[in-house]
Amino acid sequence: MTGPKDTGALTRAEAEAELARLAREISYHDERYHGRDAPEVTDAEYDALRHRNDAIEARFPDLVRDDSPSRRVGAAPSAGFAKVTHAAPMLSLGNAFDAEDVVDFYARVRRFLGLGADEAVEVVAEPKIDGLSISLRYEEGAFVLGATRGDGTVGENVTRNLRTMGDVPDRLTGDAPSVLEVRGEVYMGKADFLALNRGREESGEPPFANPRNAAAGSLRQLDPSITAARPLRLLAYGLGEFDGAVGDTHWEYLRNLRAWGFTVNPAAELCRSPEETIDLYRRISEARADLDHDIDGVVYKVNRFDWQRRLGNVSRAPRWAIAHKFPAERAETVLESISIQVGRTGALTPVANLRPVTVGGVVVSRATLHNEDEIARKEVREGDTVVVQRAGDVIPQVVLVVESKRPPSAQPFEFPDNCPQCGSLALREEGEAVRRCTGGLICPAQAVERLKHFVSRDAFDIEGLGTRHIEAFWREGLIARPGDIFRLRDHGAALAEREGWAERSVANLFAAIEERRTVPFERLIYALGIRQVGQATARLIARQYGTLPDWREAMAAAQDREGESWRELTDIDGIGPSVAADILDFFREPHNLEVVADLEAQLEISAPEAVAAESAVSGKTVVFTGTLETMTRAEAKATAESLGAKVAGSVSRKTDYVVVGSDAGSKARKAEELDVEILTERDWGALIGR
Ligand code: IVH
Repeated sequence: MTGPKDTGALTRAEAEAELARLAREISYHDERYHGRDAPEVTDAEYDALRHRNDAIEARFPDLVRDDSPSRRVGAAPSAGFAKVTHAAPMLSLGNAFDAEDVVDFYARVRRFLGLGADEAVEVVAEPKIDGLSISLRYEEGAFVLGATRGDGTVGENVTRNLRTMGDVPDRLTGDAPSVLEVRGEVYMGKADFLALNRGREESGEPPFANPRNAAAGSLRQLDPSITAARPLRLLAYGLGEFDGAVGDTHWEYLRNLRAWGFTVNPAAELCRSPEETIDLYRRISEARADLDHDIDGVVYKVNRFDWQRRLGNVSRAPRWAIAHKFPAERAETVLESISIQVGRTGALTPVANLRPVTVGGVVVSRATLHNEDEIARKEVREGDTVVVQRAGDVIPQVVLVVESKRPPSAQPFEFPDNCPQCGSLALREEGEAVRRCTGGLICPAQAVERLKHFVSRDAFDIEGLGTRHIEAFWREGLIARPGDIFRLRDHGAALAEREGWAERSVANLFAAIEERRTVPFERLIYALGIRQVGQATARLIARQYGTLPDWREAMAAAQDREGESWRELTDIDGIGPSVAADILDFFREPHNLEVVADLEAQLEISAPEAVAAESAVSGKTVVFTGTLETMTRAEAKATAESLGAKVAGSVSRKTDYVVVGSDAGSKARKAEELDVEILTERDWGALIGR
């Protein structure tokens, strides 16, 4: 492969073309990095692109483009829109990848609702549009507020832009509810996308990478007249807050949407069994190429709204819907080298550096190889020709090696026994697939990755503090541990002097950090990056212990595996002995205790995000036992948790209620012994108002 030409040797015409290419490429990587948190290139590769851009501009200053990367600061282009907290959260969807997953989905729904064999589950199937979801609020029939999804809880106010779209009715027609939030997808058709890009290239503007980006970029314009000039369309498919009649089923709701003036996907169908659903999926896949817009799967939604309500949500996805994704797209390329990345918990992950190749419209230059067993199993060697695949936003993967194309010199890959970052021994524990660096606190890679996790979207989510900044600040000694982020203010002068940092962006960063000084307890727990403690577990812990001091004290006591505190921890439904052991390991490490104490001094930690503001059972601990008549155990647990109660597996002095079904055995007896209040299913129903 020949490398790019030395910038000193470029002709004027070459330089001009090269600057156009770099503007395009850098803006693409910026979007991957800031907009989607899914970078495709290493920081070094990214920096090299920017340096090259700067070097060419230095030689040909009159060729500097209006859209040059040197004129932009590296922050997300979202400053300027007001924030909107959604009245009802905008959820995402779980995925199904094959027919079996679809059958499982039906089975899960049936099990959860406890349906009899003769009761049919109707599902509405709709193509999954590849655009961006938005929420439109109508009051007394008038369009009053439009917002992007954002993180699902808070989005951006893009009302003025949405008003310019023909598919967004300004007033609802017919008999509409007095309050109605319609959710839908804003997208751009394939032909419109190509025409838009042709025009942009002719006028020297960078083209968009795909219709999805074009739609997002067009909607999130500070000047609505730009949005107005873009061919955006909307398909309505969902419901947020409402007051009034919307229908009893999703199918009825779609019909109503049409009557109120929305465009609804004409390809939506009502299916009565997994077989019908899978058959429709096949038909939609076949029609996919002929559609005038991109779709990336088919969404299935349980039709009855009363069932949707009972099914509720798990984390941020509804139990009543699922996205059946189209299979990943594949391409062949050369694996040039394998590098080893070190993660926050010290896991060594091999990454394939690829000769760049387009997979389903996106340039891919890196792919994960998972772990050393994967490399051995697939017999991947440096220099091999490999097949890579990409599905949705997932990190690209190496699927297989084309052995007939292996160069004779290619050698089996030797996985290192030492951490490539700190040199410490890297060990594999029995039964584990990953090798981990034992350097712990002295390993710079782990420290940086922990900090990146700390500021990530589901943790502290500090706007403008991306992974690139964390790396740089860490290198420069400005941030060594999480608490330092909240002391960055003390380095204001040093920051303002950094290249490419305008005074305003430093001020913005400080403002964003201050905004996070108050943090919900569960976010703080998640942000600590304890092994196996994801968002769901963090929420369980927050609900159980309520405050940081109580939790810390309980974890100190729980180090004794015979005692009550250990029991309490492992009794939390959803926390097993292995997760508990990782939590206790975390609290045994003095450095971690310092990190936690430091944060505690800096932060205002708010009570666990209440699920339902106040209910008769919030904060109470409940145990269900015996066979329940009116609901399945899963539904009982989900309902209790959605009302703020904790559900435990065994009865102790801390239990507030034991709800007994028929054939209740030892737990009911234990409750009597301990004088814990015993409720029948009917008592429980009355208590929670159902
Ligand atoms: S329903 C709770 N229906 O897919 C229901 N989503 O992966 C949530 N999407 O954020 C969404 N077409 O942007 C639904 N017919 C459809 C959709 C659809 C596209 C997108 C939407 C959502 C994402 C979830």
